[in-house]
Amino acid sequence: MDISNWTTTLSTIGLATLSYLSYKLTRQASIYLLPSKLQRYNTSNKNWALVTGATDGIGFGFCQELCSRGFNVILHGRNREKLVQRATELNTAFPERKTGIVVLDAVGMNDGVDDIAEQVRDIIGNEGQGQGRLSVLVNNVGGEKRPSVTLGTLKYADVDATIDKNARFMAQITRVLLPLLSEGQGRSGLILNVSSLSQYGLPYICIYSATKGFVDSFTKALEAECSAERCGVEVMGLRVGEVKSAGYDVESTLFVPLARTLAKAALDRVGCGKVIVWAYFWHWLQGLSFEVMPRWVLMHATIGRMMAIKKRGEEKAFKRQ
Ligand SMILES: NC(=O)c1ccc[n+]([C@@H]2O[C@H](COP(=O)([O-])OP(=O)(O)OC[C@H]3O[C@@H](n4cnc5c(N)ncnc54)[C@H](OP(=O)(O)O)[C@@H]3O)[C@@H](O)[C@H]2O)c1
Repeated sequence: MDISNWTTTLSTIGLATLSYLSYKLTRQASIYLLPSKLQRYNTSNKNWALVTGATDGIGFGFCQELCSRGFNVILHGRNREKLVQRATELNTAFPERKTGIVVLDAVGMNDGVDDIAEQVRDIIGNEGQGQGRLSVLVNNVGGEKRPSVTLGTLKYADVDATIDKNARFMAQITRVLLPLLSEGQGRSGLILNVSSLSQYGLPYICIYSATKGFVDSFTKALEAECSAERCGVEVMGLRVGEVKSAGYDVESTLFVPLARTLAKAALDRVGCGKVIVWAYFWHWLQGLSFEVMPRWVLMHATIGRMMAIKKRGEEKAFKRQ
């Protein structure tokens, strides 16, 4: 092959690669313009959604957004008083919607989690004839109580608490509620699992990071299983970057949305055709860097961020003394 043919071949390959990448990126970006298909899970306008970790942050944002879109909501949490208070707030803001509460600590849970199915049936059944059914489960509870520390400094109970809160509880409550979600006709139920940017494997939050990897794998596996079994339940994983919430008290910016903004974006993605999706457009852009940048650059930036979080936590603790 002479030099001019060689140059032409390389240019063609380069152009084809560029066109393919542009096509892929445009396709990925276009999902942020698609209309949400959430309403297919509430055709009667009487259906119920259960949100775990619902008393604050993104979980409460989901409750507000689901109520505003016509769902009745069951709030799950560990603190009965706070759950009642949040349910009352929802009843005031959305008087036409109904609420219920389920109390269970996600950490150290035992087979008491099996009772949740009965509790849900009681809440929905108590509403009388013509009531809706449970059609949405949002597995939101999670977080890391001790971020920015090395694995070796954690205690046995710290590790277990993070695994319970972010992984075990989600697996157990999904097992318990799946039969209820698949009770209707056709596409009867939706499961949304909240994941995180940290599923890429981030330092100083090793256990939390690993649990979010679990969330992604669990989501993909369950989605394939539900499709194979035709159980009528759609399963989606929601990747999330930084969000201002009760548990992550940072300044809100374009790249750090408020909890309700994130919840709204997440519900807008329902039916977009992807099993794992970045809920919020600007987080998707951030996530792209994890696909294309060298890992050492990303880890350098992440370590800087982790140290800043650690310093802020220490300053807050000092002020409280
Ligand atoms: N915020 C972020 O930047 C961010 C980024 C990526 C992913 N995420 C994910 O988004 C989800 C929500 O995070 P968030 O920042 O909104 O959290 P948050 O503000 O800390 O709220 C957590 C919620 O979970 C409840 N909860 C905590 N521990 C519990 C337990 N042991 N048993 C039952 N309920 C419990 C809390 O209840 P109490 O009111 O009783 O504390 C609260 O309602 C998590 O899965 C997190 O991993 C968040």
